[in-house]
Amino acid sequence: MAAPRGRIHEVVVVGGGIVGLACAWRIAQSGASVLVVEREEPGAGASGVAAGMLAPVTEAEFGEETLLRLNLEGAAAWPAFAAELSERTGIDLEYRQSGALVVAVDPDDVGELRRLNELQTALGLDAEWKSGRECRRLEPGLSPRIRGGTLAPADHHVDPRAVVSALREALLAEGGEIRSGVAVEAVEQSGTAVAGVRTGDGPIPADAVVVAAGARSAELGVPDSPPVRPVKGQILRLRGAPERPPATRIVRTPRCYVVSRPGGEVVVGATVEERGFDLTVTAGAVHRLLEAAWEVLPDIEERELVEARAGLRPGTPDNCPVVGAGSLAGLFWATGHHRNGVLLAPITASAIAALIARDQSESALAPFSPDRFAKAAQLAGSAT
Ligand code: GLY
Repeated sequence: MAAPRGRIHEVVVVGGGIVGLACAWRIAQSGASVLVVEREEPGAGASGVAAGMLAPVTEAEFGEETLLRLNLEGAAAWPAFAAELSERTGIDLEYRQSGALVVAVDPDDVGELRRLNELQTALGLDAEWKSGRECRRLEPGLSPRIRGGTLAPADHHVDPRAVVSALREALLAEGGEIRSGVAVEAVEQSGTAVAGVRTGDGPIPADAVVVAAGARSAELGVPDSPPVRPVKGQILRLRGAPERPPATRIVRTPRCYVVSRPGGEVVVGATVEERGFDLTVTAGAVHRLLEAAWEVLPDIEERELVEARAGLRPGTPDNCPVVGAGSLAGLFWATGHHRNGVLLAPITASAIAALIARDQSESALAPFSPDRFAKAAQLAGSAT
């Protein structure tokens, strides 16, 4: 796994989560020599905690139409990405085009989900209101208390841990390298260009550096770092008989989501907390998540609780990702994906590989470049 010391890499990617590994894979495919430097093990951060929902329609929010359009592009890239990655590695990503159903258990939920469904419909998204009876016909494991819900047939999901394993294999097969257990302390510069990175193990020179360090992306001493902050999410993993999943679709309520994987794993998520870098799993969060899942899918009661973990989403002030060239020559940002890291990894990777190869093609990620924060600050300054 360790890269031979002394070898010069054209590109260093900081961070071995799904976004960093996907970028490195695409960069390696374009012929450049690439090294991923990861402070723990690949997938040890948010990628190993995430549920893997690819769910732009059920995650649509009022006022976030720009992000929604990007998320739809991200979802559209997944079938081909998953097919290529599994074909190259032989690893089953548990990618399923399952659909998602967001259900209401009380009148407040009905009001909230009717508004969500109206938004989805107004935006031309594939979503349909279903009565309680219709919801239970679709998902017989749902509680009789369900009063209705919005069905999004196109939302899908994947196992992020399998994706990490596959990306690792695919990257190594392409000649890329991974150095685990090495923390990058800073991006090094020479004049106005990057010179590589400084690590606890010494410097690693490189012509280009891609920062894909998730919630820790703003900690590398780079001038004009985008304002990325940690947003904590606690999440549970249950296990039960694969032939009796609690549901076949992703099931959500305003309080939780439940993803049933083909292998018998059931993921229940997730809190959204502003707690800095705290990764404590709390009794209160475990209780609330289990209760929220149980009230709609009572059958989860019989499942084994196998894991409770917290991860840190890389949040930004506008909830949108930060993808593009930085203020130093050779510096690239692939971070700030907040709730959508798994969803946006394929298009982020293609965009970063194209930028490094100086390919001028149009990218859906162009509006999400890091300089938008500096521009917004300048505008605010000139308005006062
Ligand atoms: N995308 C789901 C989450 O961030 O919890």
